[in-house]
Amino acid sequence: MVVAIDGPAGAGKSSVARAVAQALGFTYLDTGAMYRSVGLAAERDGVAPGVAAERARIELGERVLLDGEDVTEAIRTPEASEAASRAAADPAVRKALVAQQRRIVADGDWVAEGRDIGTVVAPDAAVKVFLTASPEERARRRAAQIGADVATVLAEQAIRDERDANREHDPLAAAADAVELDTTGLSLEQVVERVVALVAAAR
Ligand code: C5P
Repeated sequence: MVVAIDGPAGAGKSSVARAVAQALGFTYLDTGAMYRSVGLAAERDGVAPGVAAERARIELGERVLLDGEDVTEAIRTPEASEAASRAAADPAVRKALVAQQRRIVADGDWVAEGRDIGTVVAPDAAVKVFLTASPEERARRRAAQIGADVATVLAEQAIRDERDANREHDPLAAAADAVELDTTGLSLEQVVERVVALVAAAR
């Protein structure tokens, strides 16, 4: 079974998806880490993101490995976020990564997090959640996570939101059958409880 968690940056997807996976005993798939790894590989090797996506060997788990190297922290810098966002707009990158993601979730129970899980990667997912929060709340959370200034994060976030929503290939949008959950003012526990209840109802 697949639980799809989509939504914009900072809506709380990662914390929610990890906690839901743990609560249910499912495996967590962070598809953003794959786009981030490809963005980083492209920058480092000076190649087009599409080439990096074909070449890069990405291993996801407790740590993220790119061609055997631990890049768990390196893919979270503001520069890596920007590189990931640009790589994610490249159709060749999306094609390669979506194919890998579909293979990964084909067997077993997954909580998969991203932008296009419910629409493209797993359109038959048993549960689809589209997490949102106000832009200010999202920027506050992200700034606290990475120890940055809220105004800077808000400005960079607006650029990435715009790119995610307006890119030609697989733009960020809720699936028609997704449950929209606005997390502004909700605690992590409250959000997790609601998603776990949706999974229980779908079983
Ligand atoms: O979720 P995260 O911030 O780690 O994602 C990094 C980048 O990858 C984002 O800018 C987003 O545009 C892109 N992404 C995507 N599709 C996904 C997951 C992430 O386009 N399924």
